Amino acid sequence: MGVLGLGTMGSGIAQTALESGIEVFAVELNDELLSKGAARVKDGLERRVRSGKLSSGKSSSLLSSLSLSTDISSFRNCDIIVEAVFENAETKSSALASIGRIAGEGTIVASNTSSISITLLSKGLKYPGNFIGMHFFNPVPVMKLLELVRGYLTTNETVEKAKSIGEKMGKEVVEVRDYPGFVSNRVLMPMINEAAFALMEGIARKEDIDRVMKLGMNHPMGPLELADFIGVDVCLDIMNVLYSGFKDPKYRPCPLLVNMVNAGRTGRKSGEGFYKY
Ligand code: CAA
Repeated sequence: MGVLGLGTMGSGIAQTALESGIEVFAVELNDELLSKGAARVKDGLERRVRSGKLSSGKSSSLLSSLSLSTDISSFRNCDIIVEAVFENAETKSSALASIGRIAGEGTIVASNTSSISITLLSKGLKYPGNFIGMHFFNPVPVMKLLELVRGYLTTNETVEKAKSIGEKMGKEVVEVRDYPGFVSNRVLMPMINEAAFALMEGIARKEDIDRVMKLGMNHPMGPLELADFIGVDVCLDIMNVLYSGFKDPKYRPCPLLVNMVNAGRTGRKSGEGFYKY
């Protein structure tokens, strides 16, 4: 498996693939990002060792199945290449164009996009039938779901191959069609957005909004805590994808999310979102 981009999602995908016995070729833009990404994979495996799910010997041997490079041509012999770069349509399209120059007719090309249309991203690819969305969830080694997104041109063969790779990685695969937000974010993001409205309107304190959903609905995290975990900016971007994709006012982003993003309060990664870290 080739993995382009070793950020939070890419390193989680790489770690999970390694743990399932898949050889991984990871590519990043430069050496600094590559070593940060490799450290994330190593930390993730060490976490598994600490929780007794992996021996330290096994963890080192898995790491030896990880090849690191800044040269995309190292994907040459991969059966599947997963793009996990920054969530922006232009960035992803240009990353996919580079992958497209390496990937042969028999190679599956997948994007880990959480909201951008797979059909849109397939534009310009030589083999759009081989292209599919493989939407993993954070933290990838822990979350059971793989949302498989079938673009307008994705072939049945590609769906079947991607499904079997996802199952090999220990995921429960759910196939969905390519409409804004797919299923996961079409359902999740309006809940987070509504929680932000409830806070903005002073209906309850942030801690209490989260407690309602944790204690009443058994969610592991409340919606505001989860927004910080995902990134408030990512949540806002996805609400905008839903709003512009469906042209339906029910998806209008909460102005509080807009203010928070403009203020740089994007959640855990910035040190503050709804909560301080
Ligand atoms: N990376 C890897 N493993 C992690 C982890 C991380 N960042 N965080 C926690 N874990 C592991 C722990 O090691 C532990 O594993 P073991 O059982 O093997 O020991 C397990 O997860 C549970 O962790 P903790 O006991 O430390 O903490 P917890 O029980 O509070 O669980 C959580 C943490 C798994 C993150 C849990 O709070 C949770 O499930 N939260 C919701 C996460 C969620 O909804 N993710 C999806 C976000 S949406 C998305 O990703 C896609 C999108 O399109 C926006």
